[in-house]
Amino acid sequence: MLRLDYRNASSGIIGNEHGLEIEKEFENHKERISSIISDLNKRKDKPGQWLQWMNLGYSEETIWYVKEYASLVKDRFENILVLGIGGSALGGIALTEALLKPYWNLLDSEQRNNFPRIFFLDNIDPDQIAGLLEILDLQKTLVNVITKSGSTAETMSQYMIVKDIMERELGDNYRRNIVATTDKNMGILRQLADQEGYKTFIVPDDVGGRFSVFSAVGLLPFALVGLDIDEITNGVKDMDLALKNTDVFENIAAQNALIHYLLDTQKGKNISVMMPYSSRLKYIADWYVQLWAESLGKETDRNGEKINCGPTPVKALGATDQHSQIQLYNEGPNDKVINFVRVEEFDNKVEIPKIFEYTGIGYLGGKTINDLINAEADATKVALSDFQRPNITISIPKINGYYIAQLLYMFEVQTAIAGELYNIDAFNQPGVEQAKNYTYALMGRAGYEDSAQTLKEKMAII
Ligand code: PA5
Repeated sequence: MLRLDYRNASSGIIGNEHGLEIEKEFENHKERISSIISDLNKRKDKPGQWLQWMNLGYSEETIWYVKEYASLVKDRFENILVLGIGGSALGGIALTEALLKPYWNLLDSEQRNNFPRIFFLDNIDPDQIAGLLEILDLQKTLVNVITKSGSTAETMSQYMIVKDIMERELGDNYRRNIVATTDKNMGILRQLADQEGYKTFIVPDDVGGRFSVFSAVGLLPFALVGLDIDEITNGVKDMDLALKNTDVFENIAAQNALIHYLLDTQKGKNISVMMPYSSRLKYIADWYVQLWAESLGKETDRNGEKINCGPTPVKALGATDQHSQIQLYNEGPNDKVINFVRVEEFDNKVEIPKIFEYTGIGYLGGKTINDLINAEADATKVALSDFQRPNITISIPKINGYYIAQLLYMFEVQTAIAGELYNIDAFNQPGVEQAKNYTYALMGRAGYEDSAQTLKEKMAII
């Protein structure tokens, strides 16, 4: 299981001004937390609550279909190309980076156990797209286009580019090289996929993009590159069972949500830094940033009161960012809570040779890089505490599908509980719509003519 160590956020360690009397706060909020957890579990199956992500670990049918399709296409493709953005891409990137062998795409086929390479296009940078298309043989590439709404401009424009080239290069067979993951009924991609006869997978109802990693959105790409999706969903299920516990003293997601909420609202720690000490976990910080930002950054609470809440998430990487951000975290404004993710046992042990014994670096010889990275994590925690900076450590026994799925699912539940503590809707994203609509207007989408005019006037003013 994962372990949450919050001692360095307590007043006992970092003082009353910046730390919390954590056990006392657990006691004070015991009933509130219990009712939040019971309520989430009661509401989860009701349509329109956007809590279906809490059931994803148990979707045997999806798991079966994903595995069947993955085994069917296993030897046909050298590359998987995922087109998607935001919640349709970040979970896939985070888990494949964490769970595949490092530098996967540079390994030869045998080193990859004959599973394909995987590429994510989650931006609309013309140079990146042109560059990638130059190196991919589309004949040997399976394109997984993922969009829940089926109309996101970034994803759909990528799809149009790739489909057009594929059709020209592959003739009618191009359809076998495209698989779409989208809503079961709604959206332009659903319509097109049905017309074109693509294989499709469903983003279930009431699952928002940033909570969709354990649906076919993530599971399909994972299975296509040979990741064990049973191991992943077992991690989700076991964590889900643990987090059904309504007692805050026993529920790590509730503890972390409450500590973050109180540090923000009572101690002014309105920045949440996610800093895994593992390069393989680097993109989990990106995924967390989106989850925390889009879910908790809201203008109004559930009563319509203007509150403009939401701690700002920041990504960092240990040990790299010790040489970049830690100076600020130790001595700059005391407005952050730093979250470490610490790996107890890495897959490899890398020894530092006993050379240069009589020099200033001689002390490193005979130790391992494993000792060094975890010593640096521990040292940074203590140094931050000396500067009275709250910090929390989540320890994972090792990096595998089971524990990483637990970690992500725990963050999802933590986010949902934090949303309730702030009394906001953690599952919508109205603040994203404005710029989306302006983009449609600028790109000449029908129905947005008035906005286009207003926008042009505003741009001229700016
Ligand atoms: O979390 C979310 O809902 C968003 O980040 C979406 O995932 C993102 O906007 C992409 O949307 P779609 O999957 O509809 O293309």
